[in-house]
Amino acid sequence: MADGNAPMTSRPTIESTPPFRAPAERRGARDAQIEGELPAWLRGTLYRTAPARFAAGDWRAEHWFDALGMLFAFDVDERGASVRWRDVESAHASELQRGRNERAMFATPMRRGALGRLSAPVPKVTDNANVNIVPRGSSLVALTESEHQLVIDPATLAVRHEHAWRDKLGAMMGLAHPEFDREKRRWVDVSSQLSGRPALVVIEHDDEGRERTVVGRWSPGRIPYVHSFGLTRRSVLLIAHPFSTNPLTMLFSERGFIEHFHWQNGEQTRIGVLSREDGSVREVRAPAGFVFHVIDAFDDGDDTVLDVLLYPDASIVAKLRTETLLREVVAITPTPTRWRIHADRDEVTSTALSREGFEFAQVDRAVDGRDRTRAWGTALSLDGPRSRSAVIALDLRSGAHTRYEREGVVYGEPVFVRRPDAHEEGDGVLLAVGSRCDSERSVLTILDARRMQPVAEAWVDVALPLGFHGGFARAR
Ligand SMILES: [Fe+2]
Repeated sequence: MADGNAPMTSRPTIESTPPFRAPAERRGARDAQIEGELPAWLRGTLYRTAPARFAAGDWRAEHWFDALGMLFAFDVDERGASVRWRDVESAHASELQRGRNERAMFATPMRRGALGRLSAPVPKVTDNANVNIVPRGSSLVALTESEHQLVIDPATLAVRHEHAWRDKLGAMMGLAHPEFDREKRRWVDVSSQLSGRPALVVIEHDDEGRERTVVGRWSPGRIPYVHSFGLTRRSVLLIAHPFSTNPLTMLFSERGFIEHFHWQNGEQTRIGVLSREDGSVREVRAPAGFVFHVIDAFDDGDDTVLDVLLYPDASIVAKLRTETLLREVVAITPTPTRWRIHADRDEVTSTALSREGFEFAQVDRAVDGRDRTRAWGTALSLDGPRSRSAVIALDLRSGAHTRYEREGVVYGEPVFVRRPDAHEEGDGVLLAVGSRCDSERSVLTILDARRMQPVAEAWVDVALPLGFHGGFARAR
């Protein structure tokens, strides 16, 4: 749609381009047509997030990560499957619709004016929770990299309220990738503290999210952009890749958060191995590279293993800007890489686990890290209607991999769901949501996770945008 008196043009927009396009209705539902047979044991809901709205009023998202979020849910029961979706009704989305662009986002600038900047050198941060949705107690919480976390009603996908902590720690940035410690039944998260003495602060909190406690902090000098971290029984593994910032540059700034981070040529990656027992930090070095996502981490005797999806540098961040996505083919294929952290050496041993790159890693967490042999993920080549994807299974020991591709369908993160009575690693399915590039249809493909073959597909007549993360909640 053209604005005001601007001439109509035929130039494609990101919101009209597969696999990013979203349904026009802000809330809706569709029944699915099933091909194949849904596993009788698979009952529950797959919840997912996606950046969906690239425009609101005069505002335009300049980066994929900044589009206003949508939640969607595939319900699977004995009658079949259906999908529900709903825009994330964040305070920021409502402000943008009213012409107020005054909160910091990932890469899209604010417009606060000189007075607004002077009166609040540190801007408010977005609550556009478009990155992940995780269970917390009896609710769901939608997350982005922000101090704001939105509590979601599982039945309606509406925002119930912003999550409120009962401790005295005050506002702290959180990640969209907190880790759940299954043994302690506690969440671990990392907060980038940008004011005062900049540091990465590790916190833990209970399953309901009432009280946070500080486990420890690490000040690596310049602060790295942190999207995820490694968690083992002993340690929290903080990745300080050489894509970092001096937080003072953020004061009074109108630019997006990530625009303050710069690649430090010639620097290595540093890893802060933070003890969960006493908060002490040991620093080790790894080759330079950029990491969005950790595959897995575990203690291995006195060593610690951190498996990551490694890009050679941070150029992927700029490649995911909307103008680049409309202009270039963007491959999302970081290399699965093992960093072995030795007890007695300051340098990790770095080994590529495969030449086949992928993102959005999954493992079977019912199996102890030392015994795990598999990881799954999705390789993406984003090229508008010619985009391609492959869901990948990787043998972590041999490097062998298996691909599942479907012509014309672009898949996001495959979510592993273990069969309830499984005894072996990987006995279950992958739930992969894909968008068709040639029609406004989407599919939930249910793959046998070991054979990497589809057992069923649930097709819906709606264009679901390529999304980021989520998880499966089993029916009670
Ligand atoms: Fe992520």
